[in-house]
Amino acid sequence: LEKTFFNSQQGKRVLLRADLNVPTDSTTKVVTDKNRITAVLPTIQALQRADAKVIVASHFGRPDPKKQCWDEMVKAYSLAPVAEVCLLENTRFHVGDSKNDPAFAAAFGKLAHVFVCDAFGVVHRDQGSITGVTQHVEACYPGPLIRHELTYLSQYLEKPKRPLGVVMGGSKVADKIGVLWALIKKADVLLIGGRMAFTFLAAKGVCVGATQVEEAWLQPALDMLAAAEARGVKLLLPCDVLVSNSLEAPQKEHIVELGVNCCVPEAPCVPAGQFGVDIGPGSNALFTKALAQCGTIFWNGPMGKFEVPAFALGTQAVARAVADATKSGAVTVVGGGDSMAAISQMGLARHVSHISTGGGASLEFIEGKGMPGLRALATVKPLDEPQC
Ligand code: 3PG
Repeated sequence: LEKTFFNSQQGKRVLLRADLNVPTDSTTKVVTDKNRITAVLPTIQALQRADAKVIVASHFGRPDPKKQCWDEMVKAYSLAPVAEVCLLENTRFHVGDSKNDPAFAAAFGKLAHVFVCDAFGVVHRDQGSITGVTQHVEACYPGPLIRHELTYLSQYLEKPKRPLGVVMGGSKVADKIGVLWALIKKADVLLIGGRMAFTFLAAKGVCVGATQVEEAWLQPALDMLAAAEARGVKLLLPCDVLVSNSLEAPQKEHIVELGVNCCVPEAPCVPAGQFGVDIGPGSNALFTKALAQCGTIFWNGPMGKFEVPAFALGTQAVARAVADATKSGAVTVVGGGDSMAAISQMGLARHVSHISTGGGASLEFIEGKGMPGLRALATVKPLDEPQC
C-alpha cells in the first residue's frame, strides 16, 4: 500500500508534517539527539524517490508568537540547524498553528496537493498543521513512521508479555496522572522516579527539603498508592536519593536514605534547603532488580535532573537495566526526549526493542485517549480518492 501510495505522488507537491522537535545544545544550537530526524528520513527519501516535491514542516519548542517578535523567535527556535530538504520555518511561529485557526490551516494546506502526517510525537495535539490542514488538501495520509509506532505500541503494550514493568520519571505528576491511573490497571510493576517521585514521597510523610512538590497532587498520589496496593501492583518509589544544595550543579551533594517517619528528628530525610536531584544507588539496585524480572518494559522520563551529568546516574542505571532486559528477551519500549537521549548517548539504542518518537503522544496512546491527529487521518480511502 505504501509503495503504491508513494509512487502515485510523482510530480505532486507533498506537505510532510514531521516532528523535528529535537534537543539542541543551548549555546551552539547543534542537534544533540537525532532520533526523530532519522526516524522520518525513510519517509522523506521514499517521497523523493517517487519524484514528489517534498515540503517538510515541523514545530520546534514552544515559541510564543503573541509575546515574541519574529527575530526573537528565530534566534531561539529556528529550525535552520535541522534543515536538510525544503523545510518550512517553525510552524509555531504562527499563532494559528497552536490555535488551530482555519485561516492558518487553509494557507498551510494550499502549499501542497497531498498532506502526509508522520509526526507521531504531536498527534495528540489538535493544531493547524496536524488536524486543521487535513480539510484543505486533495488527499491526506498517515506516514510509515506513524503506522510503525501504532503497530508497535498496540502490539506490545496492549497484550504485553508479563510481567509488564513501567518506569515513569520526569518532573510533574500533573502531566502523568492520567497515564499513571491507566497503568495501575495494566502494569504489574510500576517504578516512579524523577521529581514527580517527591510528590509521592511527601504524600507518604517523607521530608523532601526544598524539592518542589505538587501540593494539589498529594492526595491523588496517596489514592494511587492505595489503588496499586489493592490491585496487587508492585509500586516502587526511590528508597534513597541524591541531594544537592544547588539544582544547577553538584554542591555538597550526598546520598540520603529515606525514612517515611520524618517527624522523628533523627529520621533520615532531605535536609531543609536542599534539593533531591536524582535517585540514589539503593534505588538504582531496587529498580534494576525489579526490571530484570519483567517480560515487557515501558520507560518514559528521567530519574533525576539528567541534563547535569552528576545527576544523571539514576537515569543511566535505568537505561542499562532496560538494555539488559532486552538482551535477556524482554520487549522494551522507550519514549520521551530525555530517556531517548540517555539510551542514545550511552550507545544502547540497539538494545531497545522500540524507541518511540512520541513522549506525550505515547503516554496518551497508552492512556487510551483519542488522538486528534490520528482521528483527522482515520478515514483512509482507496488511493485514487481523497483520503480525508
Ligand atoms: C514532544 O516533544 O513531545 C512533541 O514534539 C510535542 O511537543 P509539544 O508538547 O510542545 O506539543
